[in-house]
Amino acid sequence: MFTLTKKGFETKNIVPYGNMFLIGNGHLGYRGTLEEFKKKELVGLNIIGFYDQYKDKWRESLNAPNPFFVHIKTKDISFSVLDTKPISHTQSLDLKRAIFKRYTEFEQITIQSERFVSQVEDNVLCMKYQIICKVDLELDISIGLDTAVYEINGPHYKSKKVHSNNKKVEFVGITNEDKFLHMKTCYSFPKRSTYINENGIYKVALSAKKYKIYTFYAIAKLSENQMLNSNIEIAEKLYSKYKEEHSKAFKSLWEYSDIEIAGNKEAQFNMRYSIYHLLILGNKNYKTSIPARGLSGQTYKGAVFWDTEIFLLPFFSYTNPSIARSFLEYRIRTLTGAKAKAKEYGYEGAFYAWESQETGLEACSKYNVTDPITNEPIRTYFNEKQIHLSADIIYALEEYIKITGDESILLEGGLEMAFEVAKFFMSFAKKIGSKFHILDVIGPDEYHERVDDNAFTNYMAKYAIEIYMKYAKKLSMFDCLLEKCAHFIEHLYLPKPNRKKLIEQFTGYFDLEDATVDIVRSRLRVPNEYWGTENGVAYPTRIIKQADVITLLCLLNSEFDKETIKANYNFYYPYTEHGSSLSASMYSITGFQIGKKKEAFEMFMKSAGIDLSTNQKLYAGGIYIGGTHPASSGGAYMSLIYGMAGLKIIEDKPILEPNLAKGILSLQFKIKIKEKAYCIKVYKDNSYVVEVLK
Ligand code: BGC
Repeated sequence: MFTLTKKGFETKNIVPYGNMFLIGNGHLGYRGTLEEFKKKELVGLNIIGFYDQYKDKWRESLNAPNPFFVHIKTKDISFSVLDTKPISHTQSLDLKRAIFKRYTEFEQITIQSERFVSQVEDNVLCMKYQIICKVDLELDISIGLDTAVYEINGPHYKSKKVHSNNKKVEFVGITNEDKFLHMKTCYSFPKRSTYINENGIYKVALSAKKYKIYTFYAIAKLSENQMLNSNIEIAEKLYSKYKEEHSKAFKSLWEYSDIEIAGNKEAQFNMRYSIYHLLILGNKNYKTSIPARGLSGQTYKGAVFWDTEIFLLPFFSYTNPSIARSFLEYRIRTLTGAKAKAKEYGYEGAFYAWESQETGLEACSKYNVTDPITNEPIRTYFNEKQIHLSADIIYALEEYIKITGDESILLEGGLEMAFEVAKFFMSFAKKIGSKFHILDVIGPDEYHERVDDNAFTNYMAKYAIEIYMKYAKKLSMFDCLLEKCAHFIEHLYLPKPNRKKLIEQFTGYFDLEDATVDIVRSRLRVPNEYWGTENGVAYPTRIIKQADVITLLCLLNSEFDKETIKANYNFYYPYTEHGSSLSASMYSITGFQIGKKKEAFEMFMKSAGIDLSTNQKLYAGGIYIGGTHPASSGGAYMSLIYGMAGLKIIEDKPILEPNLAKGILSLQFKIKIKEKAYCIKVYKDNSYVVEVLK
């Protein structure tokens, strides 16, 4: 139950498997491609938090050269799945240890390999590659560093220098922004092979004997903006040391992270697969936040969105709080960027970047999608109008404190951040009559741009300001805004449930065309046409991209009664296209809470299984958006603990209102609340046991 295995090779699966078999350590991500693949197959060693811009193209995270390139040939045959059909091919991912494996049998030889990105040394990755021949063969093996890097908006290296000596290759790449990447790799070849070096790729000649195993090792170490001083000596020897350390460290992460689900094997596997994808994002040494597509590549410019605060932070707060803290520290560090953005647009306080890179400056372009027919850029307003993010960050700050009890973060910039966010919302709002309105924004549903009084935004803004007030009073710091804030939230317009208990997503939403998702889809000119903005098919209708009011009811659950939650769930569910992977989990959590267990379970499975699918949405308009979906994995975790188990923290203790789905016999997980560890078991009859762990 801890291994993902896929058999067979098909060209159409190259890109999806690259995502599905991703390995990483929160600093580096290596896509699940095969050793003989090149940039065309999207081989990628992605570095989190290291960005570059080429000319006026989008600034994005960098991919490093590939240290694990291997291609075997004889005079007549190429042993690459791209050239020769294998007899059998199996790829697997050991989820417990975060180790990728491949096994490919050709008529004359069998190749097997394994690789991992070290959980212990955050800049190290290792590979072992073996060949067994069925007959004696003269092999020509290319192994080494492939510097032809896959990039979406590159080229990012204005200079690439490779120096090789004695099975060691050193790379220094200078980026367009004059930063540098230093990589050292070290290879070991089987005895009695001879080799020559061609610019970082070793051409190894091997007279291979029938049934003998020949093993190659490769170890790579890299560093951004700092020269590595130590050498990697003898890959063969280091490999087992690194592997042992790594396996042990990664396995230990499962201790508090696993969720055991009895009664449904697929649900169990999908959940564990999602947890794996969350675990490869954490890094205790390399402190940063997590981009929307994790470590899987440059999609969305490697930028950080609200995904991290709302969908990833709960998992890490309950299981590994120091990592959750580093997400908040990142926002504290980038407060300067958020203040600069507010100033640029004429507001006060902190206006966080919708797509945030290392300094917090906005990476989201004004033209964030293209028309797939004309290739013309389409004007979008995400960067200027999706202001809810600033409130989401303060919501996350409070969630983190509630779960971990760590109020020290407030003194380390957390309170100042809340203060600046409060200032921002008050300067953004407009007073009309006696009420403050938040006009011309985009809520979570990105298809309807520039709307007024989006319920999610208004309620979240109020909540963020309340959090600021609570801590400013408690700590008697940054408290000069208290009166102004009290007046503001008292007069802030909040769309209230109507007679039918429905909350209008934004002013005028109920007047839009009452269409179905299928009808709206049938109006598309081409399948990957963008549904949003004024000219998009969804815009004049009630069809929404993703959970919006439902996200509000999910996050600020205790502010609404069950009847309101039920009415809105029933109303909005059929209008939701789920065009974003952030949608399903919100419906799942809410669905479990109101007894819609079947749909809730389906939504959970959708959320947990997204990266196991080979049929994903790869384009928004003409823009490639493929990669892994960490928010969906984090959302799946939330679906189970908040939805199915009904977890709430009351007076610092876990209290449950379980709603186990049909067929689920029990659910078991561990969490930490305010430094106390608990093991929670929920049974079929919805009874439960909370055990305090030592
Ligand atoms: C969603 C956003 C999300 C972003 C990154 C978009 O498609 O609409 O809510 O933050 O993807 O995952």
